[in-house]
Amino acid sequence: MKSIAILGTGGVGQTLASKFLDLGHKIMLGTRNVENKLSETTKDQYGNLPFKEWFATNKGVKLGTLKEAAAFGEIILNATKGSESINALKAVEQKDLEGKILIDIANPLDFSMGMPPRLIPELCNTNSLAEEIQRTFPKTRVVKTLNTMWSGLMINPGLVNKGDHDIFVCGNDPEAKEEVKKILKSFGWSGENILDLGDISAARATEMYLPLWLRISAATNFKPMNLRIVN
Ligand SMILES: NC(=O)c1ccc[n+]([C@@H]2O[C@H](COP(=O)([O-])OP(=O)(O)OC[C@H]3O[C@@H](n4cnc5c(N)ncnc54)[C@H](OP(=O)(O)O)[C@@H]3O)[C@@H](O)[C@H]2O)c1
Repeated sequence: MKSIAILGTGGVGQTLASKFLDLGHKIMLGTRNVENKLSETTKDQYGNLPFKEWFATNKGVKLGTLKEAAAFGEIILNATKGSESINALKAVEQKDLEGKILIDIANPLDFSMGMPPRLIPELCNTNSLAEEIQRTFPKTRVVKTLNTMWSGLMINPGLVNKGDHDIFVCGNDPEAKEEVKKILKSFGWSGENILDLGDISAARATEMYLPLWLRISAATNFKPMNLRIVN
């Protein structure tokens, strides 16, 4: 059993928190303002229920500020809006990030011009959000994964092709990647379907897959889908 912090209270944060709770871990979600989060009454942009309704049915999940969550977690997940992730991480005590594994799930998307979103120019091609996080917090062990699929599939790979489809992992710290692979296996991913793409610069590729994923998803009626590598 581990203490796990998830920064981000949207659909991804909620889905992963429920799964970690089921697996017997201790969970704290981090938000900018606890009171505001609990007083939200509307569904989010994806139609998810107001946070407090989900929170009421997930007894055992703690809710704290970003700072409190980072202090709580032995492992930290970044599930914040990609354009805001660096600021969200800067809001926590830096000592609470040092030496810890940070699983980065966020994608650097810009929704300001409508749908489909664009990639943020400064965070693609020759850079990525995960690299920017690693550069900004050099003592944190950043591992990028889970960002290439819908959140429901992250924790339930069996929803598609009997679980035979692929997930990517990258990061500079080999031990951190092994720990993260164990977490993925606990979600139901088979070792054969976990593809290690190398160091953190590989996040450029997985983040830049987003525009293709969103187009495929729209062209296939938004059914859960993923990539299966064949050769
Ligand atoms: N939805 C999916 O299936 C999916 C799949 C793969 C990857 N992702 C990525 O996972 C991340 C989370 O996605 P999501 O759909 O759960 O929700 P989201 O709407 O992209 O992000 C929600 C979270 O971002 C935080 N946030 C928003 N503006 C902020 C700001 N100015 N400063 C600090 N934090 C801010 C919110 O904080 P508060 O709690 O304070 O409101 C909230 O916790 C995103 O980067 C997304 O691209 C999503």
